[in-house]
Amino acid sequence: MRNKDPTQPYRQGCVNGAAVVAGLVHRNVVKMVETVMHEGKMCIVFEYERCGSLHDYIHRYGRRGDSDARQMARDLATGVQYLHQQGIAHRDVKPRNVMLADVWPAHLKICDLGSAARTGTSGIMKGVVGTAGYMAPEMVDDSEYTMAVDEWSMGRTVAYCLTGRDPEIVIEGYRRYRREAHVPLEGCCSEAREWVRWLLEEVPVQRLTAEAALEHVWLQI
Ligand SMILES: Nc1ncnc2c1ncn2[C@@H]1O[C@H](COP(=O)(O)OP(=O)(O)OP(=O)(O)O)[C@@H](O)[C@H]1O
Ligand SMILES: [Mg+2]
Repeated sequence: MRNKDPTQPYRQGCVNGAAVVAGLVHRNVVKMVETVMHEGKMCIVFEYERCGSLHDYIHRYGRRGDSDARQMARDLATGVQYLHQQGIAHRDVKPRNVMLADVWPAHLKICDLGSAARTGTSGIMKGVVGTAGYMAPEMVDDSEYTMAVDEWSMGRTVAYCLTGRDPEIVIEGYRRYRREAHVPLEGCCSEAREWVRWLLEEVPVQRLTAEAALEHVWLQI
């Protein structure tokens, strides 16, 4: 449910159960406030992020320069790392599901855990959820997958910050997707290009984890 009143906390329809988000406390994850019943449905109330979504911000102000994008990448990787440490795969990381708590310096918070799942002991999941343009190839193929789907989506999200181009494509088109063709990062520094390329690694076990992404040279600058 959309709530445009900035004095009120944001209320989201509870699809996935409050169990996944309850207790999550991290500067890069939108905080749950409470659950309430609203018109017969249980809703999760989140703290209101006044600066809007990352998608709307880039759409409005255009692609980010290296230093801004790096700060965004750092926040995203830190948030994804935290969720994974809690045993949670988000499964729908994308610019519309990232809020800006502040714009300068950028402070990002991951939101909308409506597609999230606790990974269980095997760490293996199944089921196509999320958004085509940001979906990892193993999920598009409807194969089994791991939390590494979030790192792919994070790579696409940061590519969006660097290029200002949103890969809104349907799944059929996505099956023919080739990363070099679809993420042209010309004009970005070589460290940023390499960072994105390692996250958009098609073989999940070779893809950078959020932890390794944080240690990459681009984020050390
Ligand atoms: N904590 C928040 N504070 C302020 N606005 C928020 C917050 N969380 C989400 N929003 C905004 O509320 C709107 C709906 O978000 P929500 O994620 O619930 O939509 P959705 O139906 O899941 O869409 P999508 O499938 O694209 O994620 C979006 O415009 C989003 O930017
Ligand atoms: Mg959403």
